[in-house]
Amino acid sequence: MKLKTAVLPGDGIGPEISRVGVDVMKAVAKRFGHDFEFDYGLAGAAAIKATGNPFPEETLKLCRDSDAVLFSAVGDPAYDNAPDAKIRPEQGLLAMRKQLGLFANIRPIQTFPGLEDKSPLKAEIVKGADFVCVRELTGGMYFGEKYESDEKAFDTNIYTRPEIERILRVAFRLASRRRKHLTVVDKANVLASSRLWRKVAQEMEKEWPDVVTDYMFVDNASMKLIQEPRFFDVIVTENTFGDILTDEASVISGSMGLLPSSSIGESTPVFEPIHGSWPQAAGLDIANPLAQVLSVAMLLEHFGMAEEGKMVRDAVDASIEQGVVTPDLAADGKSGYGTQEVGRWLSAWILTAGA
Ligand code: IPM
Ligand code: MN
Repeated sequence: MKLKTAVLPGDGIGPEISRVGVDVMKAVAKRFGHDFEFDYGLAGAAAIKATGNPFPEETLKLCRDSDAVLFSAVGDPAYDNAPDAKIRPEQGLLAMRKQLGLFANIRPIQTFPGLEDKSPLKAEIVKGADFVCVRELTGGMYFGEKYESDEKAFDTNIYTRPEIERILRVAFRLASRRRKHLTVVDKANVLASSRLWRKVAQEMEKEWPDVVTDYMFVDNASMKLIQEPRFFDVIVTENTFGDILTDEASVISGSMGLLPSSSIGESTPVFEPIHGSWPQAAGLDIANPLAQVLSVAMLLEHFGMAEEGKMVRDAVDASIEQGVVTPDLAADGKSGYGTQEVGRWLSAWILTAGA
């Protein structure tokens, strides 16, 4: 298969994990005889430094002209403590989402056998947890009207019916292919926007009779997530709630460094870890590349390469089982492996597994 991937390494640990993701894709291409092309683009603080724009026109064009985007992370501490900065790396990520129309962000949460004790939650609670959070990604407070002065500021949590319908369709379809349980998370007891979500979901529920649909307020859902994570199969929620709940849900897996995501919509799909750029670790070769590698698995599966995706997942499982992992996942008393070492091991595994 011919596939053109735009690679956006971004900032902090981004370039290090990006390298591993691309190497793994190259190993898959070699093993399965695919023709994968990679073209690199700037995003985030790296792009601001070079062009003044966190998501330059050239990068947008590169993404539009590609089949897929492999994204890593953006963010730089120089901007975090400067609330008056007019240009911020994160705007690059938001611009990419908006300009590529990536309205659906799919964030699968699972536990990995052997890593249950890495979670701060009790192993018996997290064991077997396996759900997907479908986060709306181009609406709500992130993109609604804003006002900002030194005396007053507001963000508008705006959603229209078509925006709600299209994300719910993604969630219902996904639930019908999984364990057929959809939880719509909102704050309909307080927010008008949530009441519209609930109304639209209650209408659409009738079109999906095989899916059991339930409704949960976001405060309650945040508690249920870590009290009884196995309750969930598919969660669908608006942009801001999805942002917060998926960071919370990452503690179920035990490391932010394990969770991939895909963002799909009107143009080229994007595959990226859910974690940020961890600037403190940049250049230290300690960042966990597995979220990026699992994003590659999602990319391959998105394009119908199920066997290839499975092989990448098997390689990840094997690396965990054999302890070839970065320090965040290393067993007590073990120091762990470097980011690139883990990457080389995964690529070698893919090239030789079962051969
Ligand atoms: C995420 C991130 C982004 C978000 C930031 C970096 C703008 O936290 O992808 O979850 O808030 O959406
Ligand atoms: Mn987030």
